[in-house]
Amino acid sequence: MNTHDTRPGSTGGADTPGPLHGGPDEDYTPEQLAAMSLDELDRLGARYDGVEIMHVEPGPEPGSPLEKRAVRQIGTVFTLAGLCAFASVVIYAGSGWFLPTWQWSVSESGWSAIFTPLVGALFGAAMILVGVGLVLYTKKLLPHETAVQDKHDASAFDRATAGATLVRTAHNSGLARRKLITRSLAFMGGGLGLMLIMPLGGLIKNPNTGDPLGTTPWKQGVRLTRLDGSPIRPGDQEPGSLETVFPAVPGGNRAANAATMLIRLRPEQVAANRPRPGQGNLGYGDYVAYSKICTHAGCPVSLYEQETSRILCPCHQSQFDVTQGAKPVFGPASRPLPQLPITVDASGYFVARSDYLEAVGPTYWNRRRI
Ligand code: FES
Repeated sequence: MNTHDTRPGSTGGADTPGPLHGGPDEDYTPEQLAAMSLDELDRLGARYDGVEIMHVEPGPEPGSPLEKRAVRQIGTVFTLAGLCAFASVVIYAGSGWFLPTWQWSVSESGWSAIFTPLVGALFGAAMILVGVGLVLYTKKLLPHETAVQDKHDASAFDRATAGATLVRTAHNSGLARRKLITRSLAFMGGGLGLMLIMPLGGLIKNPNTGDPLGTTPWKQGVRLTRLDGSPIRPGDQEPGSLETVFPAVPGGNRAANAATMLIRLRPEQVAANRPRPGQGNLGYGDYVAYSKICTHAGCPVSLYEQETSRILCPCHQSQFDVTQGAKPVFGPASRPLPQLPITVDASGYFVARSDYLEAVGPTYWNRRRI
């Protein structure tokens, strides 16, 4: 028996450790601790930590049919989680949000309807499958142990024994020899990692390229049409009436920024009309056309009171005066409704003379001003 075997707490060659004397740092030198196996360190640490093992249930026998079946199940779940994560990455990458030159060729309206639910569903499915896989792994493959431990301050001894406990736990998990699970975990980890960082991709693309917020489907020669697609002639409306019109382009009646109010002014309104400086000739005869998108927060302004010449936004009660170039005269909106320049084509139908001269809707950064 050597000095090491006679140290307090040492097994001294016996199966049961010897009595513990002072603190662990007094009982064991770092050299003695380094010479012990992981199992010995783990057991020793448990004793000094006052850990009482109540119940131990070993995992399945290595190589047994039970273990193989569990490994297959868990590997499949982790692989499915990885597939969901990679699928959400591919769909996000094809959204056109940050890859400027490539995106899925799905019709604009259909894509916008399914994009968010699809990315969300795949993200959620990946996270659920990760949880299911971890629960299955814990229940089916790990040894189950119930222990009770008193808490106390950490020391060098605690660090060494706690580290040994962690390493031994990793060893007991059997990950090193269960290749199917480690591979599926690596696959899943790659997918999840990409999925979690991919929202940063939205920072790559300049959102102002092509001025998407400052342009609408309106352009020179595009007819003004009703929701059903029928064109409008100057005689179609009564004085004092309002008609919501859309550009006669594919999808024009669904473009969120294109809805426009075509208003026929009454004679007294024409007499009182004071267009904004530089916008005196944007109407046609007694007709004027203004954006239907509120400049406060983007609600559709559609309540027109012809007696007061005011257009009311139902969201926060902003009011715009059509005889003053649709300037806001009440409420939180601070900018006038943009006016669409209009004329009639050779067939006598209303057409736009150009896009809006300023951005429609609420104010945003870098907004062009006129
Ligand atoms: S959105 Fe129109 S007043 Fe707020």
